[in-house]
Amino acid sequence: MTHRVISLRYRPQDFDELTGQSHVVLSLKGAIKSGRIGHAFLFSGPRGVGKTTAARIFAKSLNCAEGPTVHPCQKCQSCREIALSRSIDVIEVDGASNRGIDEIRNLREAVQYSPLHGKHKIYIIDEVHMLTDQAFNALLKTLEEPPPSVKFIFATTNPGKVPQTILSRCERFAFKRLSVKEICSRLKSITDKENISITDKALHYIALRAEGSIRDGESVLEQLVSFVEGKIAEDDVFKLIGFLSSEFYFDFMQKIVKGNHAHVLRALNEGIEDGAAPLEIYRGIVDYLRSALLVYSNMPQEFIDLSDDEIQRIRSLELNKEKIMSMLEVLLRSEDLVKRSMNTRIAAELLFCRLAMGNDPLPQKHGQASANDFSDELQKALQVQSPKLSALIQSSSIEVEGKNVRITVDQDFSRKLLMSSKDILEKTLKQVLKHDVVLQVDVGQNVKKDNNLEDAIRALFDGEEVR
Ligand SMILES: Nc1ncnc2c1ncn2[C@@H]1O[C@H](COP(=O)(O)OP(=O)(O)OP(=O)(O)O)[C@@H](O)[C@H]1O
Ligand SMILES: [Mg+2]
Ligand SMILES: [Zn+2]
Repeated sequence: MTHRVISLRYRPQDFDELTGQSHVVLSLKGAIKSGRIGHAFLFSGPRGVGKTTAARIFAKSLNCAEGPTVHPCQKCQSCREIALSRSIDVIEVDGASNRGIDEIRNLREAVQYSPLHGKHKIYIIDEVHMLTDQAFNALLKTLEEPPPSVKFIFATTNPGKVPQTILSRCERFAFKRLSVKEICSRLKSITDKENISITDKALHYIALRAEGSIRDGESVLEQLVSFVEGKIAEDDVFKLIGFLSSEFYFDFMQKIVKGNHAHVLRALNEGIEDGAAPLEIYRGIVDYLRSALLVYSNMPQEFIDLSDDEIQRIRSLELNKEKIMSMLEVLLRSEDLVKRSMNTRIAAELLFCRLAMGNDPLPQKHGQASANDFSDELQKALQVQSPKLSALIQSSSIEVEGKNVRITVDQDFSRKLLMSSKDILEKTLKQVLKHDVVLQVDVGQNVKKDNNLEDAIRALFDGEEVR
C-alpha cells in the first residue's frame, strides 16, 4: 500500500472521533435524530479544524443504508465510498478552482437528477467564499427551490466573504480553533497507535505551534517522525520549527524585569545564535506576556493553555497587570520596527533594552500624578512628530516650576538628542503647558556608568530615522 500521510489516515470517520467541536456535533446529531434536516449548511472556521471531515461524516450519516443515523455503519456501500471520496451521490467541489458561473450552471443542471444509490445527493463545496458574484447568484436560485433530495454543505475559512443572501439560507455552524490540550490529546492518541516514541513536552510544543489547527499539528508530527531517529524530544521540535523553549522566554523575561541591559542583550543574542530569528523572539515574548496577562488576571487554567509549572514560573516573576500591559503596549507599538527594519537584530536589541529600561525602578517624579499625566500628554503630542523623542520622554523625569522645565535623562547622548531637537520640544511643551517655557536638560546623578553596550546600540539607532 502506498504511504498516506497521518492527517489523512487519521481523518475521523464518526462524529464521536472528532476532537472538540462538541457544540457543532451536538446540533448536527440533534438534527439527524429529529429528522428535521435543512437543505443548506455552512461550516465556517479556521484551517484544519475539521470542517471537511465533519461534512463527510454528515454526508455518511444521511446516506448510510441504516440512515439517517448519528453513527454511520461504515460498512455499507455508501459509507465506504464516501470515506474514499468515491461516492457518485456525494459531490465535492473545490470552490477555489471552480469559481465561475459555468461550473455553477453545470451544478444546477446536475442537481435536477435524483441520487443514484443513496437517499440524498449531497454537494460539499469547499472554500465557498471564493465563488464569483455571478456564481453565487446562480447558486442562489438553486438554494431557493432545491429538489427535495439535495443537500448543500458549504465550508469556508472566510464566512465574511459569503454574500448575506446565501448566508441567510444556510444553517450555520462555527468551528473553533482547538486548544493546546485538545491538540495534544489528539496527537497523543495517534502516537500511541503508531508506536511513535515521543516525550510529553515535545507533544506540548507541537500543539502550541499548531495554533489551533489539528492538521498543522499532525503535519509537524509527520515531519518529525521522518527525520528523528529514536525518541522524539522537545529539542527535535525546536530544531524543526526553530522556536525557543519556554525556559528561554522565562529566563529572558526575568532579565527584562530586572532591567539589566547587558544580560538582556546577551540572552537575546544567545537565542539568535540558537537559530531563532529576532522577529520570532519578538513574537515569542509577546505571546509570553499575553499568557502572563491571563495568569495575573486570574483567568481559569483552560484559557491559559500552560502547564501548572509554567504558571507558577510566571507568577514568580512578580509582575502585575499594569506592568504587563505597558510592556505589551511598548512591544506592539514597535512591531513595525522589528518587522521592517533592515537590521532586525539591532531593532530587537533596541526594543528589548527599552523594555528593560521601562521596568527600571522609575526615577522619582515630582508632583506625583499630575507630573505623570503631563509627561503622558507630552509624550502623546510628540508621538506624531518624533517617536524617538516621545519614547525618550517616557523614560525621563520632568519637573515644571513656573516657566522653567527641567528634564532629567539617564544618558549623555539622550541629553544630546533632546537638545538637538530643542525647538520641537519647546514648541510642544508650550502647547501642552499653554505657557512659555525655558528648557533645561540634565543627565541624572546616580546613573550607572556600565552601560556602554546599550549606549552604543542606541547611538547607532539615533543616527538614522527609525520611521
Ligand atoms: N476536530 C478534529 N478532530 C480530529 N482530527 C481533526 C480535526 N480537525 C482536523 N483534523 C485532522 O486534520 C485533517 C484535516 O481536517 P479537515 O480537512 O476537516 O480540516 P478543514 O477544517 O476542512 O480545513 P481547511 O479549511 O484547511 O479545509 C483531518 O484529516 C484530521 O486528520
Ligand atoms: Mg477543508
Ligand atoms: Zn453505512
